[in-house]
Parts: sequence; C-alpha cells; structure tokens
Amino acid sequence: MTKPVILTGLRANNDLTLGNYFGGMLPIIDMAKTRSGDYQINMFIPDLHSFTTPIDHSALYEQILQTAKLFVAAGLPIEDENIHLYRQSYVPAHSELTWILDCFTGVGQMSRMTQFKDKSTGKDDVSVGLFNYPVLMAADILLYSATYVPVGDDQTQHLEFTRDIAERMNTRFGELFVVPEPVKKQHEFFGNDQGLRVMDLADPTKKMSKSARSEKGVIFLSDDPALAAKKVMSATTDDKAFVAYDPLEQPGISNLLQISALLAGDTLEATIERNAGQTRYGEFKAEVAKHVSDFLTSFQANLADVNEADILQKLEQSEMKMNNQANKTLYKVQQAVGLRPKA
Ligand code: TRP
Repeated sequence: MTKPVILTGLRANNDLTLGNYFGGMLPIIDMAKTRSGDYQINMFIPDLHSFTTPIDHSALYEQILQTAKLFVAAGLPIEDENIHLYRQSYVPAHSELTWILDCFTGVGQMSRMTQFKDKSTGKDDVSVGLFNYPVLMAADILLYSATYVPVGDDQTQHLEFTRDIAERMNTRFGELFVVPEPVKKQHEFFGNDQGLRVMDLADPTKKMSKSARSEKGVIFLSDDPALAAKKVMSATTDDKAFVAYDPLEQPGISNLLQISALLAGDTLEATIERNAGQTRYGEFKAEVAKHVSDFLTSFQANLADVNEADILQKLEQSEMKMNNQANKTLYKVQQAVGLRPKA
C-alpha cells in the first residue's frame, strides 16, 4: 500500500523574517512531523521557479542549500525516512512533464492567472518562464500523485489549474494522474492555523515583511540578536499605558503579546493573562526583547551547527527516490501521448 502524499514547495529565500518563520516555516515543519507516520511527505525546493523573474544567479546555488539548512535548523527531522527533501532541478522529470503539459494548456487560461497579471503588468521584460510558472507547479504536484498541498491564498488559483489540467488529461488519455483535493478540502485537512500573522514592529497595522520600506520594524532570522532587541525596544505602541490584547486599538502591544507567546511556546491567552494590566511598556518590551534575542541566539547557533554534509546526503538520497517515483509517472504520460510504446 502506498501512502497518500502531502507535498509542498519551499522557496529559496535568504533573508527570512520572524514572520516567515512563524507563519510559513513552523506550520510546515509541524505538519511534516505530525503527519509523517501516515503520509509520504514531499518537501522540495522549487529551484527552477527561482528565476521566472530576474535574480542574482551567482548567489542561487548557495541560497538553495541555505534554504534547506534553515528548515533543518528550525527542526525539520531529516532522519525521518517518510520525509523527502529534494531540489526540483535534480529531478529532470519536472521539466519534461512541464513541456508535455504545456502543449495541452491554453495561452488564454495562462493569461488569466492573477499572479502572472500582478507580476507582469507594466513590465516589459516578462519571461515565458513567468507565464509558464503554473504549468511547472502542476508538474511538481502531479508527478508524485500528491493529494494534499498546503497552499496560501496566492497559490489557490495554481492548485485549481493543476486539478484542471489533470482532469483534462485523464479524460483524454485515461487515468494518468491523481487529482489533488480542491482548495476547500485542503483547508479542512490542514486546519486554519496557517494564516498566523506577525506584524511590523514600526507599523503594526502591516504584516512583517522583508519588502517593508524600512527594516526598523522587521526582524530577520540573520539579525544580530542585540540589534533585534533594539528593534523591539523601539517598537511602536500607544499612549494607553496599559497592556491589553486589542489588535484594533492597541495593535503594537497586541503584536508584542503575540510574538512573546510564540517565542515562549506559550498560548496567547496565558501570555495575555500574565501581562495584562502592566502599566510600564518599557518593562514589558524588555521582556519581549529578551525572548527575541534569546531565540535568535539559539536559532543562529542551530544554524551554524547544521552539518552541510548531512543535508547534501539527505538531498541526494531523496532525489534518487524521487527520480524513481517521478519517472514512473512521466513514463505513463509519455506512453499516453505516443512518445513511448504502449505497454
Ligand atoms: N509557487 C509556490 C510558492 O510561490 C512554490 C511552489 C512551486 C509550490 N511548486 C509548488 C508549492 C508545488 C506547492 C506545490 O510558494
């Protein structure tokens, strides 16, 4: 019996923030840990997707490895045999299936993808790769017969496209692909705890994001712990002089409560209760600042300890297994379209 497959792509990114850590990385790692008994977990780095818009290619190779390291430093158990960690470009079937699917995909349908429209409008150097992005993503999913794919809002349309092309190919050529579950079922399966938001320290009405205009309110995982503590100390608050959780009226204080809870591994409720009514924001901030700097110190130590040879070994092992799986699906498709002899 083969296990149902959960699959997700982890984008190569060298300056992740505390917001990415709690909102993106940890939920994926928790999911991988808690589901790995009953599911095959595929976690891959979509490196061919990294330059659909222009990047600095001299840094790419290192960034890909760095992404794998960050996940391991954050607790991804690479010794678990049910968790596969691999690089898309090391499994050539992704590219080949993309080409085949391309030939069954309408230009009209691709032009309507909102992410493509957002990223291409007003630009004159738009690549065919950006246009084609969703087809490669469909190949990523379909090669492994993945049923569950945790997707954020910006990716739901791509998942719908994946279902669509899979159904169309199945109708035309017989059962080639497992069709992944629809978005609603994905949300039910993964629960709704994906959307956690850490806000910008300087402007707590905005999400903490590396593309913020100023870095004053953004904590990077690579920040010097003392500098990060300073950012917390100068976080924007309010003049109520009363700690309470009220994201509308006291967004800054509420965000600090949230961050403190996450870093202490405490519930938000317990954190609120512990600090409620505190009238000295300076003391409260100092406590949060300490949590932040302790966290960064230990995260950075974990990261420095991550053994590159272990990671490479895991990647290579997974890539070998994934090539086997992916090539089986690809062969069925090649047979179906007449590129290989029928069985
Ligand atoms: N497009 C995804 C993102 O931007 C990354 C990705 C590529 C992906 N291929 C995938 C995610 C397949 C899930 C499944 O985050």
